[in-house]
Amino acid sequence: MPRSFTEITDLTKNEVLEIFDLCGKMKTGKIAPKPLAGKSVACIFTKPSLRTRVSFEVGINQLGGHALYITDNEIQLGKRESVADAARVLSRYVGMIMIRTFAHSDVTELAKYASVPVINGLTDLGHPCQILGDYFTVMEHKKKDIYKIAYLGDGNNVCNSWLTLASRIPIDLRIGTAKTTPPDKNALELAKANKGSRILVTEDPKEAVKDADVIYTDVWASMGQKDQSKEKAELLSKYQLNAALLQGADPGYLVMHCLPAERGREITDEVMDDPKHSIVFDEAENRLHIQKAIMVFLLQQ
Ligand code: CP
Ligand code: NVA
Repeated sequence: MPRSFTEITDLTKNEVLEIFDLCGKMKTGKIAPKPLAGKSVACIFTKPSLRTRVSFEVGINQLGGHALYITDNEIQLGKRESVADAARVLSRYVGMIMIRTFAHSDVTELAKYASVPVINGLTDLGHPCQILGDYFTVMEHKKKDIYKIAYLGDGNNVCNSWLTLASRIPIDLRIGTAKTTPPDKNALELAKANKGSRILVTEDPKEAVKDADVIYTDVWASMGQKDQSKEKAELLSKYQLNAALLQGADPGYLVMHCLPAERGREITDEVMDDPKHSIVFDEAENRLHIQKAIMVFLLQQ
């Protein structure tokens, strides 16, 4: 069975570090492999995307391959035919599959039946490419053995992937969220099982940001939950990244957001556009480099 990347837990700690190393080489152009030469990659999207779509297509192209953009109109995964049959068919045509969709089980099912690597480009449960790229971005900006990372807002897919990263490498991760918007229980347990990490889930945003190196947020209502927008805003407004809240952070704090941002809701313009602290566009750029590293890593297995 080929190696897939459905979550960060598919990797060992050393493999995570190997991907960061490869990412650095991709970014500085120290290696310019074309491991996808002559190969196509199916990029399945049943949710919208700017960063993931463009960074994968550009990255695939830079690695010598050809990207196919496939939406739910064509594939109707699990409806027109089973996920397993779609995996078997796609494996006869393409060298790799990248998928962004709702149910995480569709991604693990694809990975189970595909004879080519499958990459998770976001599900309701996790966004692992995002978090590997984000951690790489933090390392570029600050050199520390263990980072204090405060995630404020909805306990969603992005938050869950911070936890799965903390299950592999040591992170002092503080999640500030409401009682009714917690992260995934399993991801939380996995992170807590890594004795090198310190995991705190608190309803107090000030406790989460205290002395933090990185203050991170994401939209309060994710794709597929936009009908809960008002209710989530009521629950999560006290976790907004604004100047007053960030006063408690370490003076050299970094602000991060996976984007797209809903400015004025989870983050103010002032915080997002702060040239001294905000690195949101550096993290968007690094999606390109980290995904190339992930693809090269999977092809080398
Ligand atoms: N951060 C991220 O995955 O952005 P898109 O939804 O635009 O792909
Ligand atoms: N949590 C957000 C992330 C978008 C990149 C969502 O799933 O919509």
